[in-house]
Amino acid sequence: MKISLCIALLASTATLLNAAPTDKSQSFPLAANPNFKPNPKNAIAKARAKYYKYLADVSADGGGSVPLTDVSGDLEYYGIVSVGTPPQKLKLDFDTGSSDLWFASTLCSGCSGTQTKFNPTKSTTYKKEGKSWSIGYGDGSNARGTTGIDTVTIGGLAIKNQRIELAQTESAQFQQGATDGLLGLGFNTISTVAGTKTPMDNLISQGLISNPVFGVWLGKASQGGGGEYLFGGINTSKVSGAFTKVPADNSQGWYSINVDGGSAGQGASIDQFSGIVDTGTTLLLFTDSVAKQVADSYGATDNGDGTYTISCDASSLSDLTLSIGGTNFVIPAADLIYYRQGSQCIAGFGSAGMSFAILGDVFLKNVYTVFAPTVPEVRFAKLA
Ligand SMILES: *[C@@H]1O[C@H](CO)[C@@H](O)[C@H](O)[C@H]1NC(C)=O
Repeated sequence: MKISLCIALLASTATLLNAAPTDKSQSFPLAANPNFKPNPKNAIAKARAKYYKYLADVSADGGGSVPLTDVSGDLEYYGIVSVGTPPQKLKLDFDTGSSDLWFASTLCSGCSGTQTKFNPTKSTTYKKEGKSWSIGYGDGSNARGTTGIDTVTIGGLAIKNQRIELAQTESAQFQQGATDGLLGLGFNTISTVAGTKTPMDNLISQGLISNPVFGVWLGKASQGGGGEYLFGGINTSKVSGAFTKVPADNSQGWYSINVDGGSAGQGASIDQFSGIVDTGTTLLLFTDSVAKQVADSYGATDNGDGTYTISCDASSLSDLTLSIGGTNFVIPAADLIYYRQGSQCIAGFGSAGMSFAILGDVFLKNVYTVFAPTVPEVRFAKLA
């Protein structure tokens, strides 16, 4: 679902041209320790470690944490993933809106010189498989190639026998992009190679994480950027208050949730809609009718291509609020201005022109999100 990638790339072209698991039990003989001093903090930590299964959202093995790089002012976010033995490090766009794990490879003649290309002949654990794959995204970008099997290490967690998709051709958007490929975190039903287990499926089935979730924090360039995926856990130090749980409909392979409405501008209410929680889409894309409600309330004008032009003065705008599972989540006015082009500004929201919305990064960078594929559900909390 790279729909807004295209919008954002178009918008930015002008400037670009100008410019160790610890839960293994061990037994020790019991003996009195003469140096024992009571330590309540340790005692609590020990109790938590012992009963971690009953503490919601705590993974005793600590999970696998991947820091993210925020590209071009929150356009996209990538993490480093190691493939093969010895590890070849690739920059992958982590994307909950798709389910393929693919990247540039030495089998690709058109992949760009700036990309790191995975070289299967340099990996001792690589197994050739040879199924062909082809993927297209909403913005017209695409890639295709052939499959193999190898070890894929994400946040220190080594997945064995992961199917990987080696690009033999990729479209210009990827050749000019900052990443070497994508890591799809949607459900395996939409993997373009039938029968593929996604990296998240394998993290769970290979017992690499004890809590079958991943927590996502996306930074803002205006606040130093960055971001983090935590596989098998939730980084509670980034969270403030309780999580709101919402059921996800995965019948289309995505995390689709209901948004009960909200308020925009000077209190105008917006209708309820369903939307995909998609870390791989830059903007917050509504259905046409909701986009019109939101745009009207901000005096924004429709550019006819899904984007809107909005005031460049954040102090003249009010926050946008979405109501999800009984909680109001706020997108500050400053985030409603995505991009400034001369005296004009492109809004952080747009229209997907579809019957459902896409809750992309403009929304997600204002919350901590937990994806729980086995339920399936999504949980949101306010940021600390
Ligand atoms: C959780 O977030 C804190 C604070 O931002 C950071 O220092 C820490 O490294 C993160 N922990 C994990 C496991 O990623």
